[in-house]
Amino acid sequence: MRTILLFVACFIWAGSPLLAAEASEGKEVFQKMCSRCHKLPESGTRTAEQWKLVIDIMQGIMQQRGETLLNEKEKQQVLLYLQENAKQPSSARETGAENLFIARCALCHQLPEPGMLKAAQWKLIIKTMQQRMQQAGVPQLKEGETELIMEYLTEHARK
Ligand code: HEC
Ligand code: HEC
Repeated sequence: MRTILLFVACFIWAGSPLLAAEASEGKEVFQKMCSRCHKLPESGTRTAEQWKLVIDIMQGIMQQRGETLLNEKEKQQVLLYLQENAKQPSSARETGAENLFIARCALCHQLPEPGMLKAAQWKLIIKTMQQRMQQAGVPQLKEGETELIMEYLTEHARK
């Protein structure tokens, strides 16, 4: 038992500077790789979960444009850096659907307010946005993603 505790203690002790080093490398990778097409985004504008989704979307854009993607190690380092500097979730109930909506619908303009339209109107808007994504070379929503976002919008739409 003693040895196990000691082992765990050493692991934690040795682990945190290691993580800190990874995160600081992550900052460099972030600054280099994420300022190629637009100005560097502020880390505090999104939660860690939302950053995960945004990075996957960005990887899709890079791929479509023939730009160098982040490799797996760089991606993990950037996520670690962003996690340490990300926005705190506003509520414990922040759902996957809400995170997806935020990740997907605040890329080209401010996040729209769900209560400003009725569900049927949102459905049409999403169709238009899919076209805009295609025109802009941003990967379109997959079927399951459209459904999730529509569920979220329907729940919060103008009645
Ligand atoms: C190959 C080009 C490209 C690269 C590289 C790229 N992005 Fe983007 N990014 C885009 C495009 C296209 C948009 C959509 C808006 C626009 O047209 O500028 C966007 C929008 C964004 C937005 C929303 C606007 C904002 O500032 O809030 C965020 C956040 C973002 N990118 C994060 C990242 C991160 C993080 C990385 C690095 C992992 C990255 N991007 C790398 C092309 C790129
Ligand atoms: C590829 C970029 C891009 C993405 C991603 C995007 N939009 Fe848009 N959106 C636009 C453009 C361009 C306009 C029209 C000009 C403007 O208002 O900036 C627009 C306008 C809108 C409008 C105003 C109504 C209109 O038709 O002009 C709403 C509402 C909207 N978007 C909702 C969304 C939602 C919801 C999502 C997520 C599913 C989304 N947008 C994702 C580019 C985008």
